[in-house]
Amino acid sequence: MSNPTYEKLLKCRDAVRKITDFEPDIALVLGSGLGAFADNIKVECEVSYSDIPGFPVSTVPGHAGKFIFGYLGKKKIVCMKGRVHYYEGYDISDVVLPARLMHLLGAKILFLTNAAGGLGKGFNAGDLMLITDHVSIFAPNPLIGPNIDEMGPRFADMSDVYKKDLQSVIKKVAKKNGIDLKKGVYCQLTGPSFESPAEIKLLGKLGVSAVGMSTVVEAIAANHCGMRVCGVSCISNLAAGISDEPLCHEEVQEAADKAAPLFTKLVAESIKKFEV
Ligand code: HPA
Repeated sequence: MSNPTYEKLLKCRDAVRKITDFEPDIALVLGSGLGAFADNIKVECEVSYSDIPGFPVSTVPGHAGKFIFGYLGKKKIVCMKGRVHYYEGYDISDVVLPARLMHLLGAKILFLTNAAGGLGKGFNAGDLMLITDHVSIFAPNPLIGPNIDEMGPRFADMSDVYKKDLQSVIKKVAKKNGIDLKKGVYCQLTGPSFESPAEIKLLGKLGVSAVGMSTVVEAIAANHCGMRVCGVSCISNLAAGISDEPLCHEEVQEAADKAAPLFTKLVAESIKKFEV
């Protein structure tokens, strides 16, 4: 075997397996503001990213890093509290290493969450948006480099990344809980600067409803290795030029924190209803 990305991944898997043999069915990536989600989990084991040799550790405030393994109702889940972003300077293969690792640990579903800028019609700060598809063309493709044949094919199909049955569960849970769930296309840009109003105008013309700096590369890597993906964005702010407010990280964090109770409810109830 001579693929360094895969070798690193297997070493990370072995390091986690030395700490726990818990096999999650569902993986959840917690975005900004969803940190308190972990309070819902009957925790079996926690693994700090820093305890996994070679694992990328986030440098962003509010993105403390650990895996939480445990039960959400009857579902066996692994939760990522904190993720790394491409703009931190990591190789894109490191940015998607956690998603691939959770696949190797047993997860068949990947639930992605994030905070995003909203530009969809009628969107407001604090809204939740079901991700129905993505635009990846402004972010580096995480499958560039020698293909990991053990994970998936060289030319991966992306025509059905966000699985309809998972979307349907999330929509039903939203309806039942009186959540006005928006739907739309999420676009990942590299960041770390926020977009200019002209860029947001362009993205609007491309059919984008929410914009952020994560999620899509993880969705691509997860789809490549056969995971079933779904995602929800918390619209933490209206995107540049849509509102007159200047954007800042603290404000994004604050708005995401405010939406957290509904966001938590939507994600937790949906996971409990997923069929694995
Ligand atoms: N743009 C990009 N990423 C973001 C935003 C935004 O407006 N809000 C939260 N993450």
